[in-house]
Amino acid sequence: MRKPLVAGNWKMNLDLAGARKLIGELRAGYSAEAAAKVEVAVCPPAVYVLPAVEAARGSGIAVGAQDLYFEASGAFTGEISAAMVKDVGATYVIIGHSERRHTIGHLEDDRMINLKVRAARKAGLTPILCVGETLAERQGGQTLDVLTFQLTAGIVGHALGSEADLVLAYEPVWAIGTGQNATPQQAQEAHAHLRAELRRLAGPVADRVRILYGGSMKPENAAEILEQPDVDGGLVGGASLKADSFLGIVRAALATAT
Ligand code: PGA
Repeated sequence: MRKPLVAGNWKMNLDLAGARKLIGELRAGYSAEAAAKVEVAVCPPAVYVLPAVEAARGSGIAVGAQDLYFEASGAFTGEISAAMVKDVGATYVIIGHSERRHTIGHLEDDRMINLKVRAARKAGLTPILCVGETLAERQGGQTLDVLTFQLTAGIVGHALGSEADLVLAYEPVWAIGTGQNATPQQAQEAHAHLRAELRRLAGPVADRVRILYGGSMKPENAAEILEQPDVDGGLVGGASLKADSFLGIVRAALATAT
């Protein structure tokens, strides 16, 4: 069985005091009993990763970074390496988020994303690889092809041995931060496709890899999305910034966890 993972992607939000306060509130609402059934992670901005690790210590709440650079060290001003992320106690790293693929100046391509997945794995971090179609691609009937391409490009050349080696996030670009979530059926279709493609590429480990849904997930829509058979949790942006709404999604995941 796959243990659901609810991960908060804080993006470029909160300050140090706000980060500590939010983790304190999450600790209070996330019991050991809940932790046995549903995994929770937060992904703060890079400068708050270490304070987040300290604030979360002993709570079962994992911490991830939102990105890394694929080189091990050197003259790469402004970048952080996988080993640095690992060194401060994070266990996850988001890679290939659509804002990095499409919005932020770097405009990451699939080759770079593949190298970042490799660097994360080499450092012992679990990459949360994000894939997803734009609105134009969905309207053009290309959704499943885009998912196949981004998944294949992201993991080609990397052996996957266990669920710790990869988490996938299906994040339709048109659903991110728009308030317009994918329907449960759209999510399930995409997730089932990704799992089938992952099985073709990597074998039976595909049944153990968690595939998260991301895009305007909130307590009001989480249950119906999370109960889809191939949806194994959420990558939550806006609703992860307040303890009430994030814990509401964790509760919805708990209700579907066995
Ligand atoms: P959202 O963001 O929940 O605010 O739509 C999700 C994400 O970008 O990971």
